[in-house]
Amino acid sequence: MPPNYPLNVANKQHLRERTCWQKPFHLYSLQFMSQRASESNKKLSAVVAVANNSVIGLNNALPWSLSSDLKRFRQLTMGHCLIMGRKTFDSIGKALKGRTTIVLTRQTGIQFPTDVVTASSLEHAMEIVPVGKIGFVVGGAEIYRQAKDSIDDLYVTRVLANVPGDAWLDEWDLSSFRCVEQMYTPEDGHNEWPTLFQHFRR
Ligand SMILES: NC(=O)c1ccc[n+]([C@@H]2O[C@H](COP(=O)([O-])OP(=O)(O)OC[C@H]3O[C@@H](n4cnc5c(N)ncnc54)[C@H](OP(=O)(O)O)[C@@H]3O)[C@@H](O)[C@H]2O)c1
Repeated sequence: MPPNYPLNVANKQHLRERTCWQKPFHLYSLQFMSQRASESNKKLSAVVAVANNSVIGLNNALPWSLSSDLKRFRQLTMGHCLIMGRKTFDSIGKALKGRTTIVLTRQTGIQFPTDVVTASSLEHAMEIVPVGKIGFVVGGAEIYRQAKDSIDDLYVTRVLANVPGDAWLDEWDLSSFRCVEQMYTPEDGHNEWPTLFQHFRR
């Protein structure tokens, strides 16, 4: 399978019309942001699972059951920092073991568990990531939208199905990235849909 194997699948009528995430991408001028991240010796990565119709969530939860994806997420992020939006944190409900959980919120009155760190902006979140550690942007839709131009490594699980949902990943320009790894996982008793895991590097 070629690295940029197109995964466009026509949206079904009963699903809301969205721009398919896998459409051709255009070059952004991202030099400044990438340079800033590498100057501070901090890497910003993103991990996302996205369906053919760009869905990433439903009712503030993941709209699929994919144990291979959860395992990969754990392996990738262990020992590093997770940067997530407040709504995604609400859906998880706790800090994940072995990782620093940084929750983005503009509110000041919310009580978070003591093992959670809050940040008032993406820049603030990056300041919190210790030098030598990776900040993994792990959603949701709002945070991916804001962070995508700053990402050095993108770990995508393409869920090979059209799935109903109410949160979508915006189109992501991958023209300045190259695919350095991909792996297909078939559907089975632990994985509701077949998936294609891809690692893109800028
Ligand atoms: N498929 C996947 O890989 C994946 C991964 C993660 C999440 N998801 C799904 O994504 C959905 C949630 O996404 P979402 O877009 O609704 O919410 P979200 O991105 O998780 O959180 C949005 C919240 O983050 C805070 N925020 C956003 N930008 C900020 C900024 N610049 N500075 C400070 N705080 C900021 C705000 O919190 P306050 O309102 O508190 O100010 C905002 O309401 C869920 O369905 C979830 O299951 C999917």
